[in-house]
Amino acid sequence: MQSGAEAPATGSRGAEQPGVVLDGVTKAFGAVVALRDVSLRVAPGEIVAVAGPSGCGKSTLLELICGLAEPDAGEVNSAPAALMPQRDGLLPWLSALDNAGLALRAGGASKKAARAAAHEHFEAFGLTGFEKARPAELSGGMRQRVAFLRTLLAGRPVLCLDEPFGALDALTRGQMQRWLADALEREPRTVVLVTHDVEEAVLLADRIVLLSPRPGTVVETIEVDLPRPRARTDLAVVELRERALHALGEPSTERA
Ligand SMILES: Nc1ncnc2c1ncn2[C@@H]1O[C@H](COP(=O)(O)OP(=O)(O)OP(=O)(O)O)[C@@H](O)[C@H]1O
Ligand SMILES: [Mg+2]
Repeated sequence: MQSGAEAPATGSRGAEQPGVVLDGVTKAFGAVVALRDVSLRVAPGEIVAVAGPSGCGKSTLLELICGLAEPDAGEVNSAPAALMPQRDGLLPWLSALDNAGLALRAGGASKKAARAAAHEHFEAFGLTGFEKARPAELSGGMRQRVAFLRTLLAGRPVLCLDEPFGALDALTRGQMQRWLADALEREPRTVVLVTHDVEEAVLLADRIVLLSPRPGTVVETIEVDLPRPRARTDLAVVELRERALHALGEPSTERA
């Protein structure tokens, strides 16, 4: 469960903000073992990407961190965490402004206060003029930004982002990756970013945790010690991407 106050410290700041600690976590659904013996640490302020094949337990991992599921074995300790679900989860009958303020409303804020708080971010999120638009009237990238804003406004120290750009075309995905990198520079958070896309992981994360096919176990952890901003064409980015693909058993994208 969420047990922020008593979670083990990760460094000296850990006592106040423990980040995320998973120790030997196993989770099964009936006969299907989704995760096996997964250990993971995310320090406060760190961005950790989790990549691995479909069905290896990535979404399950985020649900465990957010306290939406319990492990069968092992321990999960996390500062309070907000989930941006794999599908954006926007409510079709609410405006962009009200969708963005949903977590605040759920926390007891008045409609007016939630709208005001959400609106403060609309310009930085590229949503000005779309306050009253319903999700169906927004582009895919805008929907993701509203969903991300809602997750941010939940006010939790940890953000769990589940394939935030998975449904977008390559061009929009690239724009959104740059946008997210900037947003996290402005407002640093502890982030667990689940992605299929190892290039996205290299562009955004401080560290990449690679999972095996189900049952998901950690096969390799890659430190991404590169200056920001990063570009997909940087040699170091390309090299780390190739290393991650190799660790996942994927064919290299480089020409022989
Ligand atoms: N609530 C559930 N009930 C039963 N089985 C589940 C449940 N949630 C997940 N599973 C199973 O656990 C395994 C891992 O699922 P999960 O959604 O965590 O994978 P994933 O890595 O996020 O996959 P994808 O990349 O396709 O999103 C799958 O075999 C899935 O069928
Ligand atoms: Mg998933």
